[in-house]
Amino acid sequence: MAAAVEIEGLTKSYGSSDGEVRAVDWLSFRVEQGEVFGFLGPNGAGKTTTVQILMQVIFPTSGSARLLGKPLGDLESRSQIGYLPELCQFHSHLRADEFLDFHGRLYGMPAGARRKRIDEVLELVGLSENRKSRIRTFSKGMMQRIGIGQAIINNPRLLFLDEPASALDPMGRRDMRDLLMSLKDRGTTVFMNSHLLSEVEMTCARVGIMNRGKLVQVSDLKSMIKPGHTVEIRAAGITDRVMEQIRDLAKRVQQDDGCLMVTVDKEELLSHLARMIMESGANLMEFTPRQMPLEEAFLQLIQESDA
Ligand SMILES: Nc1ncnc2c1ncn2[C@@H]1O[C@H](COP(=O)(O)OP(=O)(O)OP(=O)(O)O)[C@@H](O)[C@H]1O
Ligand SMILES: [Mg+2]
Repeated sequence: MAAAVEIEGLTKSYGSSDGEVRAVDWLSFRVEQGEVFGFLGPNGAGKTTTVQILMQVIFPTSGSARLLGKPLGDLESRSQIGYLPELCQFHSHLRADEFLDFHGRLYGMPAGARRKRIDEVLELVGLSENRKSRIRTFSKGMMQRIGIGQAIINNPRLLFLDEPASALDPMGRRDMRDLLMSLKDRGTTVFMNSHLLSEVEMTCARVGIMNRGKLVQVSDLKSMIKPGHTVEIRAAGITDRVMEQIRDLAKRVQQDDGCLMVTVDKEELLSHLARMIMESGANLMEFTPRQMPLEEAFLQLIQESDA
């Protein structure tokens, strides 16, 4: 099966008064069909530029890409792709249903199919009650919802979402998560740019991380957030002397509401730490390894790639 997204040596340079900016620098990777893929990176990393090249909003300086096995611009594959741009400015004079109908027509959907799908989509994005409201009256989050709506109007096989949840309220984020899961169940490939790492953690199986136009890492989420070397400790009777020993051994110690979060460099040091506390006569009540959250793994990778 062809990859959903296949990028080879993609580069986009912009000239500026301070010289050349490489927004995307020799990028190569694949996203397989059926994946929910998170595309992460700090502001200015090149995520939006990459997606804009794939959507042919802008053109690369060099390199190439294929979507659903076809070169960019192939009309048949384009009709199977949905796209939510980062900063949406929609036709403010249109009503929600008219706007979705307009996008359905752009995809060449027949009138009957459009009518049925508009009802479904309005329900999916939580705007059924606003179907007759003009887009100019929409709040920021409602604008994002209708944007997601137009991106899925054609039942896409491949969906690009550039920051889909940034303006959504907690209910909207949950709806978005449910929507992503139902799309995944139907085999839709989702390529999502996002800064909301907790959302990414809940929805994406694989992530790519960009920094300064380059790909720093592409990996399974599971392998990124594997257990780190941090433990949560609850113990009674830890003396100042033992606390000092813990600080000497650890890379980082945080005290938080009667519990200690201790991070060490090597796994072996964890058992040493437990022994030290017990042998001191303190009463060790809890010693729980913590997973490294995506945020921590992300910050560490970006820091290393900046070094
Ligand atoms: N039209 C342009 N002219 C000059 N430089 C540009 C242009 N568009 C983007 N850039 C530069 O390209 C780089 C990548 O920008 P891009 O919008 O792709 O980042 P991003 O990863 O999407 O960031 P964010 O998280 O803020 O959305 C930035 O340094 C940006 O200043
Ligand atoms: Mg962006």
